[in-house]
Order: sequence, then C-alpha cells, then structure tokens
Amino acid sequence: MSRIKLSFLVATILTLLLLAFTVDAQSSADVVFDLEAYGNIVPGTDITTALANAWKDACASGRSSAIVIPGGTFEVREGNFAGPCKNRIDFQLGGTLRAPKALPGDNWIIFAHIDRLTVSGGGVFDGQGKEAWGKNDCHKRINCAQLPVSLRFNFITNSIVTRITSLDSKNFHINVLGCNNLTFHNINIIAPGNSPNTDGIHIGRSNKITITKSKIATGDDCISLGDGSRQIEVANVTCGPGHGISVGSLGRYTNEEPVEGVLVKNCTMINTTNGVRIKTWPGSAAGGTATDMHFLDIIMVNVGNPILIDQEYCPWNQCNRQVPSKIKISKVSFENIRGSSATPVAIKLICSRSFPCEEVKFRDIDLTPNGITGPITSQCTNVRPIVSGKQNPKICASPYQPPLNCSLNNSWNCSLS
Ligand SMILES: *[C@@H]1O[C@H](CO)[C@@H](O)[C@H](O)[C@H]1NC(C)=O
Ligand SMILES: *[C@@H]1O[C@H](CO)[C@@H](O)[C@H](O)[C@H]1NC(C)=O
Ligand SMILES: *[C@@H]1O[C@H](CO)[C@@H](O)[C@H](O)[C@H]1NC(C)=O
Ligand SMILES: *[C@@H]1O[C@H](CO)[C@@H](O)[C@H](O)[C@H]1NC(C)=O
Ligand SMILES: *[C@@H]1O[C@H](CO)[C@@H](O)[C@H](O)[C@H]1NC(C)=O
Ligand SMILES: *[C@@H]1O[C@H](CO)[C@@H](O)[C@H](O)[C@H]1NC(C)=O
Ligand SMILES: *[C@@H]1O[C@H](CO)[C@@H](O)[C@H](O)[C@H]1NC(C)=O
Repeated sequence: MSRIKLSFLVATILTLLLLAFTVDAQSSADVVFDLEAYGNIVPGTDITTALANAWKDACASGRSSAIVIPGGTFEVREGNFAGPCKNRIDFQLGGTLRAPKALPGDNWIIFAHIDRLTVSGGGVFDGQGKEAWGKNDCHKRINCAQLPVSLRFNFITNSIVTRITSLDSKNFHINVLGCNNLTFHNINIIAPGNSPNTDGIHIGRSNKITITKSKIATGDDCISLGDGSRQIEVANVTCGPGHGISVGSLGRYTNEEPVEGVLVKNCTMINTTNGVRIKTWPGSAAGGTATDMHFLDIIMVNVGNPILIDQEYCPWNQCNRQVPSKIKISKVSFENIRGSSATPVAIKLICSRSFPCEEVKFRDIDLTPNGITGPITSQCTNVRPIVSGKQNPKICASPYQPPLNCSLNNSWNCSLS
C-alpha cells in the first residue's frame, strides 16, 4: 500500500471515529439503562414496573445516564419519574407509551424535581383520551372532576424536551409548574379540535420557558400561560385547530403571581377560535398584574378573534360580570400581524373598568375578512392603544369612546364618566 493511500485510510478511520464520538457525546450518556434489562419488554405488554425500576437505577447513577425505551407500543399505568438525580438523565422514548383508557386521579406521567433532564427519542405519549372526553363536564360544573394531565413537568430545571409527540390527552397534554430554564423544541401535540380541555402546553409559576419549532393541534388553548409565567418565549410554532395562544386565564383565584415577560414570535395560527389573547376573570376578589407581553410576526389563517384582550372572561357564566377584573394589564404590543379573520371584530380589547389597560401598542396590522360578509372592525373598552404603521382594520375607530376618568391612588383607578 502506498504512503498516500495509507494516510488516506488513517485519516478516514480517524474521521469516522471522531464522528462516532461526536454523535455519541451529543445524544447519549455515560451509562445506558436499557429497558430490556428490567423485564420482558414485548410490545403490547405493561412496562410500568420495568420503567419505574430503570428510573430508580438511572436516577441513582453517579454518572450521566439514559433510559432507552425501544420501538413498539407499550402500556403504562403511571409514571412517577422523580428526582433529585445524581447526574443528568436522558429519557429516550423510541416507541409509544399508552395510558389506560380509564385512569383515576389527575396525573399520568410526572417528571419532578430533576435538573438537566432530556426527554427525546421520537416516540409518542398516547393519553388515549377519547373515552374520557365524554366524561368531561367542566362546561356544566365549576368544581368538575379533574381528568389526568398526560405529562407533568414539576420543578424541573435546565432541561430539554425534544422530538416527542403527545397524542389525545384526557385533559391538558403538558403542564409545566415551578420550572426554570426548560425548553420544548420540535415537539408535536395532537388531539381533535372538539376534544375538551386538551390544552397543548400550560405553564404556571415558571421562569425561562422556551417553546420553539413545534406543531400543536388540539381542542383547547395551543399554549396557555397561567399566573407566575415569567420570561416565556414562544417562536416558530404552528397552532391549529384549537383556541390559540393565551395569557391566562388570570384572576380566578387568590394569591396569583404576576405574569411578566412574554414573547410570542413568528407563529402561525390556522383555523383557531382565537389568535393571541389575554384573558382575566371579572367578579373575583383577586388582584394582580400581567405586563411586558409582546406578540410579533404572527400569521393568522381563518382565525376567529385574531387579537383579543378579554377582561370579562367568564366561560359558562361561572362568575359575576358586573364586578370588574382586578388584574392590571400593561406594556403589551402587537406587531406585524397578518392574515385573515373569521369573525367581524378582528381586534377586540375589553379592559377592566377599574384597571384599564396601559401602554397597549399596535404596529403594522394587516387582517382581512375570511368567510364572513362585510368588513372587519376593532373594538376597544377601557384602553387607549398607541398605534403606528399599517392599520387594517383601523384600530379603535368606534365613533364614540367615552373618556376615562382616572385617579392615581397607588395604581390608576379609572371609571367611565
Ligand atoms: C439552561 O438549560 C440548558 C439545557 O440544559 C443549558 O444548556 C443551559 O446552560 C441552561 N442555562 C442556564 C442559564 O443555566
Ligand atoms: C426560528 O426559525 C428560524 C429558521 O429556522 C431560526 O433561524 C430561528 O433561530 C428560530 N427561532 C428561535 C427562537 O428558535
Ligand atoms: C418562522 O417559523 C417557521 C416554522 O414555523 C420557519 O420555517 C421559518 O423559518 C421561521 N422564520 C423566521 C424568520 O424565523
Ligand atoms: C381549515 O379549515 C378549512 C375549512 O373548514 C379546511 O378546509 C382546512 O383544511 C383547515 N386547515 C387546516 C390546516 O386544518
Ligand atoms: C385609595 O385606596 C385605598 C385603599 O385601596 C382606599 O381605602 C381609599 O378609599 C382610596 N381613595 C380614593 C380617593 O379612592
Ligand atoms: C375605583 O374607584 C371607584 C369609584 O371611585 C371605587 O368604587 C372603586 O372601589 C375603586 N377601586 C379601587 C381598586 O380602588
Ligand atoms: C371624574 O370623577 C370625579 C370623582 O368621581 C368627578 O368629581 C369628576 O366630575 C369626574 N370628571 C369627569 C370629566 O367626569
């Protein structure tokens, strides 16, 4: 063999080795806990116990670990994946985990108190919600039975959820509580448009949550941001069907934390009943604030209420609309929002009489009617938007806008004269 050929061969082998090493370093851990070692992992069987045991060992491992679930469909009655763990931990789901059709309580799979968790693998969490949806009576009763949430992330830090699908949850698909620095990237959420309460991702009391490059098709909110949502970024997400991206609802309960810092950017809404909205309850005792919320570069395709602030949010009449909401909304912007509205009032801003919205800005809004006769309009109550750039429709051109009468007493208290 010539010298040149030999060095070429050596270089090739080195490159291959380097490549293998790089791929390995990115995607896997020091120790792999193969589920096959914890039972007879045959598709169609229940792997609840095997998973629990594998988790226990992986979590106790001093070196970074990975749990690998192979392809195929498996039954899982419950998943309680709790930390703290000794090192970083990967949960790699290759196949489909299927929930029981009937499940007591309000959880299916919970990840809790874990630092540096990765959930990935291209697999599916199938909540099997079809039968449970018929039992949902939250539209009739305020204290309705809570159905299980498919995936809960409780007190998770510095973690990533990527390349997974959540299918047909019984209640919310994903609930995020008390987390800090958690990213959802490239995930799929799927449930029918008429499935009740199947919110895609609900976030509460969490900081620095990022959702990027994901597709969410469901029966309720695509993403909802509850109280205590701070530094939330949503980008490159497609929603629809569903109820759109919401901040709220807020003000239903006492002791709610402020919502502060929301950026929704470059998202597409298709056939959703709302586009981007902020909703707060009237008639409750609870005060609070929601501030620094920005929505830009959003495409609306056949969307009902593309832009909505609703401080009289009172589904199924479960509140007193006469008492104004005590949530103060401020520093909100809507910029470069284009597409089509399926309802005549494309921009609806209903702010609180006691706490009018402040610093609500619009720039470059270009919406056209879709499937409705007549032009689209905007409507504003207890808010004076600051407008620039394109205004299609004209923002708050209602012929009569009663003046606000405000007095400064700790915060602004305004009433219509
Ligand atoms: C956030 O989490 C990611 C993923 O674990 C990590 O790479 C990053 O360093 C964390 N950021 C901070 C500020 O800790
Ligand atoms: C959105 O997608 C574009 C194009 O792929 C990418 O450049 C950008 O970084 C993404 N934004 C976020 C916040 O991930
Ligand atoms: C916007 O998001 C889409 C995916 O929904 C992506 O393909 C596109 O590159 C993004 N554009 C920018 C400018 O980030
Ligand atoms: C949106 O709704 C229209 C009319 O109902 C339907 O034809 C279309 O397929 C829907 N688009 C998506 C992406 O679901
Ligand atoms: C100012 O607020 C305090 C506390 O809410 C209240 O007791 C007082 O009556 C208010 N004063 C006016 C002039 O509204
Ligand atoms: C705002 O003012 C009205 C009328 O002056 C008063 O009834 C109401 O209690 C005030 N609200 C707050 C939160 O101070
Ligand atoms: C504003 O409210 C104050 C106190 O309620 C009242 O005295 C005043 O006349 C009102 N101003 C207008 C312009 O209605």
